[in-house]
Amino acid sequence: MPVQFLEKEKIFTIHTDASTYQMKVDDLGFLLHLYYGARTQGCMDYLLTYMDRGFSGNPYDLKLDRTYSLDALPQEFPLWGQGDYRSPALNVRDREGTFGCDLRFAGYEICEGKYALPGLPAVYANEGDGAETLKIFMEDAVLGLKVTLLYGVLPENDIITRAAILENAGSGDVTVERAFSASLDFLTGDYDLITFHGRHAMERNMQRSNVDHGAFAIGSRRGMSSHQYNPMVILADHDTTEDHGRCWSMQFVYSGSFKALAERDQYHQTRLQMGLMDELFSYPLRKGEELVLPEVIMSFSGEGLAGLSHHLHNCIRRNVCRGKYRDIPRPVLFNSWEAAYFDFTGETIIEMARNAKELGAQMLVMDDGWFGNRNDDYRGLGDWVVNEKKLGCTMAQLAESVHSLGMKFGIWIEPEMVNEDSDLFRAHPDWALAIPGRKPVMARNQLVLDFSRKEVRDHIFDQICAVLDGSRIDYIKWDYNRSIADIHSYGAEDQGKVLYDYMLGVYDFLERLTQRYPEILVEGCSGGGGRFDAGMLYYTPQIWCSDNTDAVDRLSIQYGTSFGYPPCTMGAHVSVCPNEQNGRVTPFDTRSVVAMAGTFGYELDPAKLTDEEKEMVRRQISDFLTYAELLHNGDYYRLTDPSSAEAGAWETVAEDGSEALMSAVVLRIHGNRTPIYVHLRGLTKGAVYRDSRSGREYPADALMDVGLPLPVGMGEYQAFVYHLVKL
Ligand code: GLA
Repeated sequence: MPVQFLEKEKIFTIHTDASTYQMKVDDLGFLLHLYYGARTQGCMDYLLTYMDRGFSGNPYDLKLDRTYSLDALPQEFPLWGQGDYRSPALNVRDREGTFGCDLRFAGYEICEGKYALPGLPAVYANEGDGAETLKIFMEDAVLGLKVTLLYGVLPENDIITRAAILENAGSGDVTVERAFSASLDFLTGDYDLITFHGRHAMERNMQRSNVDHGAFAIGSRRGMSSHQYNPMVILADHDTTEDHGRCWSMQFVYSGSFKALAERDQYHQTRLQMGLMDELFSYPLRKGEELVLPEVIMSFSGEGLAGLSHHLHNCIRRNVCRGKYRDIPRPVLFNSWEAAYFDFTGETIIEMARNAKELGAQMLVMDDGWFGNRNDDYRGLGDWVVNEKKLGCTMAQLAESVHSLGMKFGIWIEPEMVNEDSDLFRAHPDWALAIPGRKPVMARNQLVLDFSRKEVRDHIFDQICAVLDGSRIDYIKWDYNRSIADIHSYGAEDQGKVLYDYMLGVYDFLERLTQRYPEILVEGCSGGGGRFDAGMLYYTPQIWCSDNTDAVDRLSIQYGTSFGYPPCTMGAHVSVCPNEQNGRVTPFDTRSVVAMAGTFGYELDPAKLTDEEKEMVRRQISDFLTYAELLHNGDYYRLTDPSSAEAGAWETVAEDGSEALMSAVVLRIHGNRTPIYVHLRGLTKGAVYRDSRSGREYPADALMDVGLPLPVGMGEYQAFVYHLVKL
């Protein structure tokens, strides 16, 4: 049983295969955190120390005893109002606006299976996962506030999830000013915090910095998880590497504004937290109302960052992504965006499909520009009516023509947006998020539709269903091309709720869409990877990783992304050179090797390829299809950090070690070169592997300990691939 409760000691223990999590209800009814780390037995309440600590408050219950302070004790769900001056997970105000809360233990429940969250995406359990749920009930007697702390356990995968439900069971209103989903206190240790920062077209650059005194926070105020900071953080010992050492992660199953914070306190203790962004958020809970806090996926690895990533990859692949395409490689696609931008007709799309098919592709995606008056990015969003004049045919006819070539067919949508120049905006200007009396902040000349309102969602849903119902569509690219700036809903009484309710609306729409069209593959996108998070992955099993298709930049973007997300979630395409984002020229094969580390496809016009390039594309697609199962299901290893190494290198190893695919791109070249040895990982010790391409044999231990010298090619950015099969 993963979850145990010792009645006498009042200690909760959660075991996964390789980790243990422990907390204790003490005599005062406070819930103290004891331990999260390598699997162990026994009670860890001996870790708690009690002494008089100046200027740290004491609970009234203990009268003259000054040795107890929540300002120093490790807590499970710290809050403002009990004498802890560190960063709270919960901060609420009563009807008068008074800050303060005092939650005490009120009971628990252990149940089989994994909890779900109403209205929000969450990790789910499959049969055989041995999942369990622990619910801990906490109550504030004065406010009548009830908090249910939820813990979900996937023991084999070393995953523990956290979420919480706040319920106002009192008689007055309560306003939630901050509500984080997870908080972890570490009594000892000196840590690094690993975060992933970026910008449009350059997402998820890894940063590793010392957690020092003070608080370091990342997050998003944009109403989206954002290009700027990914909702995924790792705390690690200073000496933790890919293969060794302890590390802990928090990953938010939520796509809106968030905050993650690491604080080192006066006693050198560390607190790690993640949850809803508390700025631009003030959530009123009236009598009887509930607020569901989104889920945080946590994992611990005592075997370095690679081990941690494997837990997260497995969890995302098998317990977050859903639907028909969860376990199978996705169709190799050609996307019209960089090939034609807005400049296409039905005929040119069919022509593109015909040429792509000839090269071995499986799907043609018609990107932005097929609806309303959308011939540039200044107008048309909100009018999901097929522009038959531009296409020269109906959507059904176009889809049929593409299918008749033996290709699947996909389209682009951006349901959450509206242009002022659209029929929708002219009819319903109050359906956009905007502040009365002010001019809205524009971005890409578009406004965000108020998805917190059901009538707005329903209207867009009906329009999009009308397109999908009438035509054979196999794939949708769901885009989101700006951040929210004007947080005001004409449909809301409390504007402090809008950003959260907006996300619930988006999830409601996505749930309805995916339920109604279970055969359709939905790819998420937000100007590339601006909403690359576990929340979106619950509905869209792949996400366009970045608008930057330059193979060299992509190495870093995909490297950073891989810490929390498996390759099968990363949309990656080959595009033309010089690259349209940064002008860099890379060899054609290098671009395909890099795109093969994600869901493979092309972002170019096949008609413009030379005969030699066409031959290369045929080979690239056939290579990808040969390795697709391995790439989709295998264990992914980062072999180098492309921001500093001479070569970017990575590897996927089959779960049973029977084969591996290693790829490397040389990043720096010199005269009279020092050979670059790439150290492989995860091969079966003692085994010999044969490279199926060259026929050459290699001892696994030497490949891992000494490495594999890359050939010395001429010219920049040469790529090399080894398919190693165990003998
Ligand atoms: C975003 C996407 C692109 C493309 C355009 C279309 O920028 O990331 O791939 O779909 O929108 O407008």
